[in-house]
Amino acid sequence: MKIHHIGYLVKNIEAAIDEFIALGYQLTDEVCWDERRDIDLCFMRSGSYLIELVMPKSERSVVWNLLKKNGIGPYHICYETGSLPEALNELKLRGYVVISDPLEAVGISGRTVCFLTGRNAGMIELVEV
Ligand code: NI
Repeated sequence: MKIHHIGYLVKNIEAAIDEFIALGYQLTDEVCWDERRDIDLCFMRSGSYLIELVMPKSERSVVWNLLKKNGIGPYHICYETGSLPEALNELKLRGYVVISDPLEAVGISGRTVCFLTGRNAGMIELVEV
């Protein structure tokens, strides 16, 4: 599967944007707020690489504890799939566990995404393209 983006947990999204600009990335759009997950997020591009900066805003955010536990850094890789239901079935057969039901992504033009974890691959995200 082709990599769509790498998700990066940050504590201060404005400071992180400045850092990644210094590393050669450009913002693809403004920072937006995902109300359901209570995160601020944005995408940044460098050549063909796309990263997603994710900042939890409160304890009710799904990644609040992850940031507390692991600190800032990459935490998921998002893969493109032509069919989310088919990819989910394949990965479930390989032992992956779905950790969030498919939902419309904020910040990727409303595409459907789904998060899973695998025993040997950590957290991955699928995006239907
Ligand atoms: Ni993502």
